Amino acid sequence: MKKVLLLSCLAIFAVVLTQCSSSKKAAKAQTITYATNIQPIISSNCSPCHFPDKGRARALNTYDAVKSNINDIISRIEKHPGDRGFMPMKRERLSDSTINIFKQWRDGGLTE
Ligand code: HEC
Repeated sequence: MKKVLLLSCLAIFAVVLTQCSSSKKAAKAQTITYATNIQPIISSNCSPCHFPDKGRARALNTYDAVKSNINDIISRIEKHPGDRGFMPMKRERLSDSTINIFKQWRDGGLTE
């Protein structure tokens, strides 16, 4: 009887352990990357103007282009409609949480 109790304690312990480690993995998966987070925001909000095949504004359609313009991009999207240089031009301001994704990406080291 004692053995059964001991075994079930061990089983519970094991379940708790695996749940802890999988939640850690989930937190790690939240690293902001260009491919997963940034690129989709740019293609839906900054096209066609910043895509060279369609628009004439500076290209922002590649990782390298976005990376090297990141400070400009953040300062433009932090402005408000009506401010000089506000982006996305003639559209609504991005939400604060979307703007934060760009900042987290920059602060996290601009992961590709
Ligand atoms: C309707 C077209 C249009 C959209 C949409 C648009 N832009 Fe622009 N953008 C322009 C034009 C035109 C310029 C050049 C004029 C200027 O500097 O304001 C520009 C300039 C910029 C610049 C400065 C680049 C330079 O040449 O110095 C940045 C950075 C920028 N845009 C970022 C963005 C981002 C980020 C988005 C999406 C969130 C966006 N833009 C959406 C048209 C657009």
